[in-house]
Amino acid sequence: MAQPLLRIDVLTLFPALFDGFLSESILKRAIENGLVDVRLWNLRDWAEGKHRQVDDRPFGGGPGMVLMAPPVVASVEAVQALAEPKGRLIALTPGGRPLDQGWVRTLATEPRLILLCGRYEGFDERIFEVLEPELLSVGDYVLSGGEVAAMVVIDATMRLIPGVLGDAESAQDESFGLEGGLEYPHYTRPRLFRDREVPSVLLGGDHGEIRLWRRSQSRERTANRRRDLVDSMSPLVPPKSKSKSKSSSQKTPPILPTTASPEPLILDDPAPDDRTGRLERND
Ligand code: ADE
Repeated sequence: MAQPLLRIDVLTLFPALFDGFLSESILKRAIENGLVDVRLWNLRDWAEGKHRQVDDRPFGGGPGMVLMAPPVVASVEAVQALAEPKGRLIALTPGGRPLDQGWVRTLATEPRLILLCGRYEGFDERIFEVLEPELLSVGDYVLSGGEVAAMVVIDATMRLIPGVLGDAESAQDESFGLEGGLEYPHYTRPRLFRDREVPSVLLGGDHGEIRLWRRSQSRERTANRRRDLVDSMSPLVPPKSKSKSKSSSQKTPPILPTTASPEPLILDDPAPDDRTGRLERND
């Protein structure tokens, strides 16, 4: 089989946690098709002594146990040396940089990632000093270990690998896609459900109108739920280009109400009118 597009080595004390995750759905298919190769390594295999100890009490006192530097550093160095390239080393820790879709996009271009999962109270600091990993957090909360965070990284990354998703569009059009911001709402059959109709614009077959409606919904939703993302969205109206080559018959996108308004956040609870999908157009 040809070389996988992405190899991921995971170092963990609990490799079995990944069993179900790797053997279902999209990831299973990606692995079967040779697009992604995930290898699991048990940190304990590098532990010394009769008890193969991997953790110990913190110097200075305090609760919990700390992952010891010798087995962790030995395991990472051994796994890095198993294949070329050495790979991008990432330690999962709540103290890391929060993961976002931009970072995921760069990870998906890498040939190899090495994910180091912590447990207990965390890593002996010298692990970071010696190995110099990138530190990645999946959010401002504390998990029991890095394994679920590693699954987040694997899942988000592998679906951007070319060929993994059936429909190439689906990774582009979604939340945090190329336009930034949250995704527009979706509807499928039935057309009427508990007195709620599918917005008429989606039934009309005018793909220009549909695109416009979706972009405006995406903006509105982002402003309501995630105002922090609004500034990163691409503008609805592209900046005026210097050349005036556009003929008057070409449709200019309408200017839609800006969403970066200073009002307080309101969680979106669409009024019936919003669901018609009608746009207030200023053109
Ligand atoms: N390990 C424990 N909590 C974590 C988090 N929020 N992100 C990454 N790794 C973690």
